Amino acid sequence: MNYSEKVLDHFTRPRNVGEIPDANAIGEVGNAKCGDIMKMYLKIEDDTIQDVKFKTFGCGAAVATSSMATEMIKGKSIAEVLKLTNQAVMEALDGLPPVKIHCSVLAEQAVKAALTDYYTRLGIDPKPIVGEVPEMAE
Ligand code: FES
Repeated sequence: MNYSEKVLDHFTRPRNVGEIPDANAIGEVGNAKCGDIMKMYLKIEDDTIQDVKFKTFGCGAAVATSSMATEMIKGKSIAEVLKLTNQAVMEALDGLPPVKIHCSVLAEQAVKAALTDYYTRLGIDPKPIVGEVPEMAE
């Protein structure tokens, strides 16, 4: 299996790994295909992602896509983050082998789960904003 230089870079030196103790948005999803788990912590202020960290029991491709996704959403507005697709994250990594595409979905779904948590904590119905977020990413 061939991984791009960028995937290998983000796998061996993942950015933004860890937890945010005072996160105000936390999302956790599992992957229906492999059973791996992803947890995403966001610190949101003024509708902007001030900080983001992740932890995963996922494979190398999940680590690389999450690392890249966290770099792409840091400092962005919620509206911009909601437009970020796993496709865009994979393109930023110069692609993934087809059998690993399901791994990239974990990061996208974990971010959406965190935003769902954010709005729920504020007493706002998250569904019209974030959409449905399945607990298991396909
Ligand atoms: Fe499970 Fe990649 S094999 S996240």
